[in-house]
Amino acid sequence: MGTNQSWGGRFSQGPAQMVADYTDSQTYDRHLYAQDIRASQAHARMLGRQGILSMAEAAELVNGLERVRQEIEDGTFVWKRELEDVHMNIEARLTELIGDTGKKLHTGRSRNDQVGLTFRLFVADALKDWQKHLSELVEALSKQAQAHKETLLPGLTHLQPAQPVSLAHHLLAYCWMLIRDSDRIADCLSRVAISPLGAAALAGTTYPLDPLSVAYDVGFQAIYDNSLDAVSDRDFVVEAQSCASLIMVHLSRLCEELILFANPNFGYLRLPDNYSTGSSIMPQKKNPDVCELMRGKSGRIFGHLMGILTVLKGLPLAYNRDLQEDKEGFLDTHTTITSSLAVMAGLIRELIFVPERMAQACKSGFLNATELADYLVGLGHPFREAHHITGKAVAMAEANGLRLEELSIKQLQSLSADITESVYEILDPARAVSRRETPGGTGPKSVETQLGKVRQWLARN
Ligand code: ARG
Repeated sequence: MGTNQSWGGRFSQGPAQMVADYTDSQTYDRHLYAQDIRASQAHARMLGRQGILSMAEAAELVNGLERVRQEIEDGTFVWKRELEDVHMNIEARLTELIGDTGKKLHTGRSRNDQVGLTFRLFVADALKDWQKHLSELVEALSKQAQAHKETLLPGLTHLQPAQPVSLAHHLLAYCWMLIRDSDRIADCLSRVAISPLGAAALAGTTYPLDPLSVAYDVGFQAIYDNSLDAVSDRDFVVEAQSCASLIMVHLSRLCEELILFANPNFGYLRLPDNYSTGSSIMPQKKNPDVCELMRGKSGRIFGHLMGILTVLKGLPLAYNRDLQEDKEGFLDTHTTITSSLAVMAGLIRELIFVPERMAQACKSGFLNATELADYLVGLGHPFREAHHITGKAVAMAEANGLRLEELSIKQLQSLSADITESVYEILDPARAVSRRETPGGTGPKSVETQLGKVRQWLARN
């Protein structure tokens, strides 16, 4: 192969074909073209402002880069494997288009700080995209919550019937997970949005650059403090992958519940036809493949987090080519996160809940046992004793195939003489829910407060 025009000066021979294929990244880092061009234009403008290039040259570079962008977006740009990566492909085409001035773009810059800024811009754009999708999902969930403030279902612990909760409360739990995900991204963004440009290869440069103005130009607020750290730091990728992993944890928990609740034995919800699939052999089947796939996709996202951690572990300062391995995992994460969030928002919007089935389920499983215990505490029994008496009531009901509220007053009084008819009122699941008004509880006022907070968050995000 011919030598590379960007670094081939000292070589008598180019890399072997196999080596060129092995080191090539343009097949995937071309997805970063918009960020690379933005960064290069900011660099060119700064070179002009600082008098390192003439203003006319700077303008020529900026306009030439615009033409390259156009070609890429029109699909007429010819990507060349021998030019290794997105950076050199763009720069080479720029020089073809505008002539020798193109060769001045790289003044005071190395690909090491260039790729750092390009990738940081890409990750920042991706994170903002995830935030937008998270807001849409939170909105979809909160709308369903709004519509189901009165719908009750059995709340579970250990996947066993525990206490009744409102469906609104249940759905809002997911809103808070996703709100934390978005807030976590905001925090992560403050460390992503730091420009490494000006660090050059590793040690800084002799040109009188103004790196902070480049940072501002691309919409970042700060620059690196140490050039060695600037070109070798990929903490921001780990943080972004970790944000993505938690999003997938939350989505996959939601998927698991949707799968479970769609099972006819629960029957709490029906999956909309356009979000389900059938079976090629069993005609009755309506399968939750979308949720299963999303739950499964969390595996590869966690893998990408482990991947970048492992790439970074033990790397000496400063730039090492290992760092090129930061991108493919992230590109896949980006596609997976945005599509998963969009699909989940669509599914939630169209989800059909079956309140009657949930109400039916609230009648079994002794969900009101805690109410009876609390009632006995109200009569003056210490909680442990009340718990014990209630346990006996449950055993008695179970032995007779009855619900707690179906035990006669005589049966109940055989366990504690001071129980009166008023006990039956407190055994109603709706009463149980309405009495739980502790902050963040399932009581209607607490749920209304939550809904208000979620709406406020949505207005800000
Ligand atoms: N494609 C490289 C990467 O993604 C760009 C930087 C290469 N720098 C170098 N000196 N080989 O990391």
